[in-house]
Amino acid sequence: MSILSFPERGEGGDARYRGNCSPKVYEWLLKQARPRRLLDPVMGSGTSLDVALRSGIQAAGADLSTSPYHQALKARLERAGAQVHLGVDATRADLAGLFGPADLVVAHPAYGTQLVYSDDPRDMSQLGDDEVFYEALQALLVNMREATSVGGITRSSSATPASRGATTRIRRKPSPGCRGANCSACASRNSTTWPVADATTASCAGG
Ligand SMILES: C[S@@+](CC[C@H](N)C(=O)[O-])C[C@H]1O[C@@H](n2cnc3c(N)ncnc32)[C@H](O)[C@@H]1O
Repeated sequence: MSILSFPERGEGGDARYRGNCSPKVYEWLLKQARPRRLLDPVMGSGTSLDVALRSGIQAAGADLSTSPYHQALKARLERAGAQVHLGVDATRADLAGLFGPADLVVAHPAYGTQLVYSDDPRDMSQLGDDEVFYEALQALLVNMREATSVGGITRSSSATPASRGATTRIRRKPSPGCRGANCSACASRNSTTWPVADATTASCAGG
């Protein structure tokens, strides 16, 4: 577990976006990881992408939201050179196929029901605070891992209870045609053990 604390929020993203993260967290991560390409599949107000872009690092991002706020953000980030997709459920999407590999894949996912982002049932803030939420978080971590290039780093600001160890047991990897919780297509897939030793927990200073 890593605890990060900074006296100022820093520049980037949107301090008014609920649950936004301090740009300083991403500055710290980029300094440690020195990536060529960053991917954030739950980008919110785009803080991680802003920090990457101004550091000369290629940036890619997604969010489930297709709101006017996010359409405007996508346009702004694309003008700055980022690759952005909206309407992406990062717990089920083929992030590697959609974006190609990145050597730093970061996520600051919704925290259970603490902050509700939308009424979309795929929204991680709609999944409750227990098992369904943790299964979605595990699926997100697996998707992030699959989008991470060999030798790259996967970082999440949230970890499932199981992923605090060296390995996470993924009981049900979502199938390409997944229809949500208790999906029979997913249930028929084999169990997989997936290493997520790189998952870390960091506290964010923002909102
Ligand atoms: C904690 S916020 C990210 C904040 C971001 N780090 C920032 O600084 O602005 C989490 C984001 O996850 C998005 N989200 C929720 N469920 C999602 C899902 N299933 N797939 C992709 N994005 C999702 C929400 O719309 C929200 O923007």
